[in-house]
Amino acid sequence: MSILITGGAGYIGSHTCVELISAGYDILVVDNFSNSCAESLRRVEQITGKSIKFYEADVCDKSALRIIFSENNIDAVIHFAGYKAVGESVEKPMMYYENNLMSTVSLIDVMEKYGVRNLVFSSSATVYAGDNPMPLTEDMKLGAINPYGKTKLFIEEILRDLCSAKDNWCVALLRYFNPIGAHKSGLIGESPKGIPNNLMPYISQVAVGKLQRLNVFGDDYDTRDGTGSRDYIHVVDLAKGHVKAIQWAINNTGCEAFNLGTGKGTTVLELRNAFVQVTGMDVPYAIAPRRAGDLAEVYALPAKAKDVLGWEAELDISRMCEDAWRWQSNNPMGYEIDNTIDILK
Ligand code: UFG
Repeated sequence: MSILITGGAGYIGSHTCVELISAGYDILVVDNFSNSCAESLRRVEQITGKSIKFYEADVCDKSALRIIFSENNIDAVIHFAGYKAVGESVEKPMMYYENNLMSTVSLIDVMEKYGVRNLVFSSSATVYAGDNPMPLTEDMKLGAINPYGKTKLFIEEILRDLCSAKDNWCVALLRYFNPIGAHKSGLIGESPKGIPNNLMPYISQVAVGKLQRLNVFGDDYDTRDGTGSRDYIHVVDLAKGHVKAIQWAINNTGCEAFNLGTGKGTTVLELRNAFVQVTGMDVPYAIAPRRAGDLAEVYALPAKAKDVLGWEAELDISRMCEDAWRWQSNNPMGYEIDNTIDILK
């Protein structure tokens, strides 16, 4: 069984490559390395002991996609490739619409031409409207507030329309909550460009001494300690969810959304405190104003993924912190400057 992974060199993509290979799948990767690098794939090879076939190409480029599909016998696709920074999407909405929508439309077109109709799409909890009660279930009201989230929502709509029109397609829309952590080897992990926007990479960069202190965005929310609460999920659990979703997509038809979360909320200060406790590192912090667009709490009801896919998250917050720190402390500069693997080879 051969799976094409778009954006397979990225944070979630690289972890999914490891889990697919471990589950016995053949994989090939297409990535243009716009927000990732080939080093992550070399490390996936190191972890799994398997070599990875990859194409350096843009998923918007249909002629490149045609070459990939004609050269390989592909059974299903996992589509990760896309821009993902919320703030940047507000400043450059057209770049987001063009890249994220065009790549998906091109991919669908080429998949159809080559008779490959099983797709897992990398969606996000950000597609849910902000006024839903918690926990979020897949049938709740949708409505993203920034261009990044809207690209996820629009792509979901496109894929729903596709499956309504063509009953031989099967699409799993995976709505991720907050993926953190890293592979236990410490070889692959999240390597954000510039100053991180997300909480866990920010905490680990404070701990490693790259950033001075954590700014806690708001302490007056209606939560246990007043700071924002999110459903953090270990990236390896998330990657395993993709293995289950691809099995489902190969054996079914139709379009279904699945929440991939743990069902538990953790506040900013709880995550910071767990990190300090697990790692023994110092993470100074200061309370800062609320960040525009943030909700007090977001967490999933992941029951559908358990019932239909047979998947459930297993790793707890301590493991997420331990693994995030192993990655960060072994690779203080992420993949950018650290070329020790090349040197070793
Ligand atoms: N936070 C801080 N300080 C920081 C960064 C974050 O206090 O420096 C807080 C936020 O206010 C929030 C929590 O930490 O309460 C989590 O923030 P993240 O930026 O890590 O994550 P978000 O929940 O805002 O967003 C993430 C992804 C989005 C995705 C969304 C889905 O970044 O791409 O989850 O719910 F759409």
